[in-house]
Amino acid sequence: TAHAMATPKIVRPDFGGPFPEHLAIIMDGNGRWAQERALRRVFGHREGINSVREITTECARMGMKSLTLYAFSVENWKRPRVEVRYLMRLLRQFLIQERPTLMDNGVRLIAIGRLDSLPKDALDALRETEALTAKNSGMLLRLALSYGGRAEIADGLRKLARDVKSGALAVDAIDEETMRGYLYDPGTPDPDLMIRTAGEMRISNFLLWQISYSEIYVADVCWPDFRKPQLLAALKSYAKRVRKFGGLVADGPAPKA
Ligand code: FPP
Repeated sequence: TAHAMATPKIVRPDFGGPFPEHLAIIMDGNGRWAQERALRRVFGHREGINSVREITTECARMGMKSLTLYAFSVENWKRPRVEVRYLMRLLRQFLIQERPTLMDNGVRLIAIGRLDSLPKDALDALRETEALTAKNSGMLLRLALSYGGRAEIADGLRKLARDVKSGALAVDAIDEETMRGYLYDPGTPDPDLMIRTAGEMRISNFLLWQISYSEIYVADVCWPDFRKPQLLAALKSYAKRVRKFGGLVADGPAPKA
């Protein structure tokens, strides 16, 4: 059938430098996008879904390994009840409607966050989409839902402490890699590039452990206006970055002692 084990062809422009294996995005500015058009905030979220679809599809086509989208933070529960309810309805709708697109592009979807706080119908749709896409071999799409970087570390520490208490883990064996193993999805390498839209220069509790050495790119446009041209501009910027991870440039001139 048309959906059987789609192995989409990878088409990637030449950016003249490295391409990120893992991209993380803080999708900010939906509310502002709507307000600038004298619309209610929820219309910005609705339009934001079109950006999610376009960016996911483009990243998958370019052969990106992982894409993590900050869709709902633990702090977002504090928003007005109507907005939270709308976002949850939109999430469920997205998870159902996008299934053909995810399958056509070979995308595997998972979620990270405190997922037990999601409404049951959204969680059910999530589990079904995860199951449906589990065998796809293309890009991994991670939705951060009810996600907080500090919450993730605290949740991991609770599990780690339990393992210490039961004797499964020795205190002296704890190092950075041990801690990583207790995070939500430890198998996915750290993001190489983190994009934030709507001009804000903040991390907002996103992937705190994982972004130590991520390159950061801030786009001025609001998320509903972040589409393929804006993505290409960010990837072009990334291709020019020199990443040193605290060391010296790998192929640069030898340092003078
Ligand atoms: C930030 O805009 C965006 C959010 C809090 C939610 C992001 C959600 C979507 C793009 C739609 C749902 C996503 C999926 C994957 C189903 P904001 O409301 O903080 O904007 P503002 O800063 O202008 O107020």
